[in-house]
Amino acid sequence: MNGLINRAVKKFILKEYGKYTWEEICYKSKVEDDVFVSMKFTEDSHSYRLIETTSEVLGVEPSCLIESIGRYWVEYTESEGYSMVFEMFGKSMKEFMHNLNHLHFKIGCILPNIDPPTFDTKVISDSQINLHYYSNREGMAPLVKGILAALSNKFNEPCEIIHLIKKSNETDHDVFQINFL
Ligand code: HEM
Repeated sequence: MNGLINRAVKKFILKEYGKYTWEEICYKSKVEDDVFVSMKFTEDSHSYRLIETTSEVLGVEPSCLIESIGRYWVEYTESEGYSMVFEMFGKSMKEFMHNLNHLHFKIGCILPNIDPPTFDTKVISDSQINLHYYSNREGMAPLVKGILAALSNKFNEPCEIIHLIKKSNETDHDVFQINFL
């Protein structure tokens, strides 16, 4: 995955847990410094190892860690110079969700070799949207849940996010139900 993702883990840990915890994670995960360069392509195995080691050091489930990274994602990407993305791709959470494929397509024009997820929105009612999430990777769905929670704060649109359908042998993607309150 692009170094932008790995760097999010690094900055999240430094912010929430401090440099000694981060040093322990680096030592145990044995990931090289260059996987934290945000423009750089890195093998997914580095990201998974980083997440696994970080979860072990913190004593939390990988899914909880990934969701926390998602909650940090808006603040993080703004700090990495992507704040214009939040102005360009929607003035509301609904509009932003409709534009997720376009957003990742544009990001793919500046970052090399990315394999981004794809999304499909289904408007169920004025207060409910179902977001279908397709990825070639495993285990990243909590990132979507966390990012949606952060977007809800960003746009000041309180909502409940339910992981309605999980990818499995029967279904090739995840579905999130977003109920606007
Ligand atoms: C400033 C905004 C954003 C930027 C710059 C960004 C950029 C990226 C990049 C570079 C990747 C790595 C892809 C790869 O290396 O193959 C990625 C992955 C991902 N993005 Fe975004 N993204 C943004 C917003 C969002 C939003 C709003 C969502 C969903 C609500 C989202 C969901 C994901 C997920 C779940 C992945 C993990 C990869 C996967 O599922 O296969 N992103 N994004």
